[in-house]
Amino acid sequence: MTTPAHVAIIMDGNGRWAKARGLPRLAGHRAGVEALRQAVRTASDLGIGWLTVYAFSSENWSRPQSEVSDLLGLLKLFIRRDLAELHRAGVRVRVIGQRDDLQADIRMLLEEAETLTIANRALNLVIAFNYGSRDEIVRAVRRIAADVADGRLSASAVTLQTVSAALDTSGIPDPDLVIRTSGEMRLSNFLLWQAAYSELAFLPCYWPDFTPELFKDTLRQFGTRERRFGGLVERDPVSSSA
Ligand code: IPE
Ligand code: IPE
Ligand code: MG
Repeated sequence: MTTPAHVAIIMDGNGRWAKARGLPRLAGHRAGVEALRQAVRTASDLGIGWLTVYAFSSENWSRPQSEVSDLLGLLKLFIRRDLAELHRAGVRVRVIGQRDDLQADIRMLLEEAETLTIANRALNLVIAFNYGSRDEIVRAVRRIAADVADGRLSASAVTLQTVSAALDTSGIPDPDLVIRTSGEMRLSNFLLWQAAYSELAFLPCYWPDFTPELFKDTLRQFGTRERRFGGLVERDPVSSSA
């Protein structure tokens, strides 16, 4: 099986999973955290280099305040409870998304997770939190424009690499595979630049039902796909992702 270097997941369907069981949405989000733990373990076991998970989008603030605070609470709980174990397992945590507007306690937790795990090499876990691709691109354009305005960069010297390096994902390889659960077939503002040539897998199950077996089946299916990147010859997903 060809193992992708970078898998990105849109963890969707927690609310519907709970509704189908007559439970409050919070129960779905809690079950979603358990599915995340399993996905991290599976990715680690399989030797996947990078796992990016969409945990909270820049548009999720528009949900009822009680749900927003549940989601923020679960993130804090996840980092407080799981950070030591992630660190022991050699997982390096990175966070992408807009950080300046977050509450100070969340910002500190995210920084703590990144600092503690900075030297780990087993699996890179990228948490997309308060993340939206369009917002990320706007922030990148501002940074590049400021460099041009200050004379540090000329407009004609802006390349694909300049843009890539100005994004939150600077230094992270593009995802080879983007998985979305819940049956929705859209990207919802996730990695729009980075997923230009990613394979996409839309699974009908809700996120809490995403088992290690399903993860492995999806990777197996990915291994059979022909990736061309606009050319005519198939290119190996692993070597083309750098
Ligand atoms: C995904 O599940 C979790 C987040 C968006 C944070 P949802 O909460 O979107 O669940 P559905 O899509 O309403 O079922
Ligand atoms: C995408 O799911 C965001 C996360 C999984 C964190 P949403 O549930 O917010 O997306 P839409 O609203 O269905 O497009
Ligand atoms: Mg949803």
